[in-house]
Amino acid sequence: MSAWWWVLIGIGAFLVLVAIHDVVQRRHAILRVFPNIGHLRYILEAFGPELRHYIVTSNDEERPFSHSQRRWIYAGGEHQDNSFGFATDAEFERSPGYLIISPSAFPAPPPEEGDSDDRPLPSAKVLGGPRDRPGALRPASVVNISGMSFGALSARAVESLNAGAALAGCMQTTGEGGLTPYHLQGGELVMQFGTGWYGARDSRGCLDLPRLVELVQANPIRAVEIKMSQGAKPGVGGMLPGSKVTPEIAAIRGVEPGRPCVSPSVNPGFGNVDELLDPVERIAEATGLPVGIKSAVGDPRFWSDLARHMDGGSRGVDFITIDGGEGGTGSGPLSFIDHVRLPYRQAQARALRAFAERGIQHRVTWIGSGRPGLPEESIMAFALGADMINVGREAMLSIGCMQAQRCHTGHCPSGVATQSAWRRRGIDPTLTSARAAAHIITMRREITRLARATGVDHPSQVSLDHIEVLEGDILTPVAQRFGITPGGPCPWRSRGPQPLASGPSAHPAPRHMARSMSAGDATPSSARRRASSIAAA
Ligand SMILES: Cc1cc2nc3c(=O)[nH]c(=O)nc-3n(C[C@H](O)[C@H](O)[C@H](O)COP(=O)(O)O)c2cc1C
Repeated sequence: MSAWWWVLIGIGAFLVLVAIHDVVQRRHAILRVFPNIGHLRYILEAFGPELRHYIVTSNDEERPFSHSQRRWIYAGGEHQDNSFGFATDAEFERSPGYLIISPSAFPAPPPEEGDSDDRPLPSAKVLGGPRDRPGALRPASVVNISGMSFGALSARAVESLNAGAALAGCMQTTGEGGLTPYHLQGGELVMQFGTGWYGARDSRGCLDLPRLVELVQANPIRAVEIKMSQGAKPGVGGMLPGSKVTPEIAAIRGVEPGRPCVSPSVNPGFGNVDELLDPVERIAEATGLPVGIKSAVGDPRFWSDLARHMDGGSRGVDFITIDGGEGGTGSGPLSFIDHVRLPYRQAQARALRAFAERGIQHRVTWIGSGRPGLPEESIMAFALGADMINVGREAMLSIGCMQAQRCHTGHCPSGVATQSAWRRRGIDPTLTSARAAAHIITMRREITRLARATGVDHPSQVSLDHIEVLEGDILTPVAQRFGITPGGPCPWRSRGPQPLASGPSAHPAPRHMARSMSAGDATPSSARRRASSIAAA
């Protein structure tokens, strides 16, 4: 045999060994699913900066998440160094609405010795406190995981996110596809319902309240969310392509396997605010839990109507998740994905303004979603009045999603958004749950550091004065840009941690804020001065 044959046999044997290693290893989903070929992803990623520099795109060009943003998420999820060197490559003057966070000359001090930023960062507001819900709680983390259904996501992805939520001490919203065994890995839950009421649906397709009460009693459900609409496709109900409707999913949702599962675009039970608040109060009364809505923002009349109905105090939602137009979806029509509803910043401002005009914005916990999943945008969200933020696709990225944008086809290569048994086996929830948790912890650490840079201790203390928006070479204060009057007759947001209405405090005030409140005027930091004035108010 010639020497060339030996070389070929050697290469073949090497590739077979690599393939066996790839299929057996558990760290990388892509290698498990695409042995040998999957290495191209890592090779391209390693040389990507150089290649893109000369051939393809800049660090900032990929969408919806740029290469730099994804690198930040992947590195944080693996506890690797997520810092960047040399300088920014952002083109400030050419990026519309470029966010500038104003650093204070006197930043808030770092954590005291023996303390760290890697612990939970509790919400300043008590969820359900203002309406005295028996199940009111202070969420232990201001960063939580967005609703993404089992069906849109694979079982292993849902498992990873829930176990990750348990590790990070945050909550996971179930998504509208119902509660599944994969959601029960130790993480606390917000039970979400869309128009299909999957999980607690009666034979007419309406809410089966006794069934919901049973679910709440048997599972770690801490709140209920009614999904009015989703930022990516308001006016369109949930859409699960037939390729993803496996017999298991069909059984959970009570639909036919293999056929598209399309939920109605409107909820048959309510057609105006008055009718919406009835099920809200019925669910809250039967379960004792805080009840909220998730919505995209368009028509301002809905928000002023909701605020007007809540002004009387007898009925109302406990939280509102504002989903910006930048938000993701498992499947939706392009014209909706691109055009129908406001982007997050405008959406948050419009909805909250309706409540601030009546001075009742503090009665609601505001949750930002759809853009705030990255640290700088989340600081913007806090300044605009959000009390917490939800992360969706960022959490997917942390468990291996590579932004292939094939969630709607059932052929997600990373096993995150598919029901293909071969592809989803690439995910090992023991490893990926730790990555999801690391991502949440990294987010909390980074937003705490950003808050401190502005001179305050907790992101809920970041105010509109801390943010400006650069348009060309014109700087506009955020308040002016979004038509907000800070400090006017209706202060934009209430500051300082809310106490629990009654009973022993299972969730004490956020330590960051408590620290600055007890520090009084003695310390020169602007955060402390501000906090002590709130405490005195
Ligand atoms: C694959 C996928 C499935 C989703 N499923 C749901 C869902 O069941 N219910 C829902 O309210 N939102 C759903 N969403 C939207 C997210 O919860 C979230 O609102 C949106 O992606 C914005 O957050 P992000 O920018 O952090 O991803 C889904 C998004 C994706 C990408």
